[in-house]
Amino acid sequence: MLDELNLYEKSEAREFLAQLRAELDGFLEGMKSAEAISLKPHRNINSIVFLGVGGSGIVGDLLSDITAKRRDLPIICHKDYSLPPYLTKDVLAVAVSYSGNTAETLSAIVEAYDAGLPMFGITSGGLMEKICKKMGIPIVKVRDGLLPRMAVPHMLGAAVSVLTNAGLIKMSADELRNAVENARRAQESVEVHVGLESNIAKQVANQIYNKVTFIYSHGLLSSVGYRLKCQLNENAKMLAVNQCLPEILHNDIEGWSPALANCLAVVVLRHKDEPLAVKEALDRMEVFLGEQLGISVSRIVGDGNDDATKILSSMVICDYVSFYTAMMRGVNPIRVDRIKSMREGIISNSRLLEQVAKRFEVKP
Ligand code: PA5
Repeated sequence: MLDELNLYEKSEAREFLAQLRAELDGFLEGMKSAEAISLKPHRNINSIVFLGVGGSGIVGDLLSDITAKRRDLPIICHKDYSLPPYLTKDVLAVAVSYSGNTAETLSAIVEAYDAGLPMFGITSGGLMEKICKKMGIPIVKVRDGLLPRMAVPHMLGAAVSVLTNAGLIKMSADELRNAVENARRAQESVEVHVGLESNIAKQVANQIYNKVTFIYSHGLLSSVGYRLKCQLNENAKMLAVNQCLPEILHNDIEGWSPALANCLAVVVLRHKDEPLAVKEALDRMEVFLGEQLGISVSRIVGDGNDDATKILSSMVICDYVSFYTAMMRGVNPIRVDRIKSMREGIISNSRLLEQVAKRFEVKP
């Protein structure tokens, strides 16, 4: 089915595919949008907290993995209304909301502002743009009109650019550009014209489209695992579970049985430079689940020699997996009606947005 090219002619497939194909350029565009933003020098920053939920929240998770070996500061990803009390003025807050109208994120921004945290924002507009401008918070504006989850590369590129310029990450813009160029090979290998026989994204979609999928990974690729879970939820409208090693082998593993083969599948994210113990553990786990229990186990290998390339290339493949899975399931990858109705139906959230607008004297 996935090799029938007329499948991709439907308007929603075409629109989604256009955003998917533009993802890697989105990193470069996001970096460019942030070039002019410089943060006030602040010598005592001791950690970075990302404020944001859903697609926007993933920016912090991915950045944390990409830069794990490139910074001396911890990155905290905070995905809730209220800030924990241990965040002090030496913590740099990075607020990310694509729409700029997400109640949880705006609530956290206001708390960070009141607590005196240095901060910058990344958004396409909305209330967030207005209140950041009013409060004098630097803001990177990324292009609008995208799905929030497909704007992740733009927002990630913007975050890398600002943090690199501020000297908080020891990564050059050229390194990220290089990773983007390397990841284009991975993207080409999973494009729609590449047949199922040699297209890993189509093969994985074929294995998982009618099953609840467990995504297993370790360390470097754990945020990509979380990204795949969220993309399967939102694009393919299916349940997925994301877990990481070593925990999997200390709990999950006891739950598997051959009877689950009909309804559950596993996708394992791998790369060639896994620490030996991790490689051994993942190999053993794959053999146990696949060969001994008869569960469908698919492997996605992140290409490249550096961390950023491995992350970007696996993320691109995983995003195509979610698209092909949506096609197999016959669902529209663009619409997220339930998320929309939940967002709009929570009266406390609407009130919160009104209060924030009123406090900063901007139009909601
Ligand atoms: O991808 C999506 O549409 C969602 O996960 C959104 O990112 C989420 O609802 C948060 O909205 P925003 O990214 O606009 O803050």
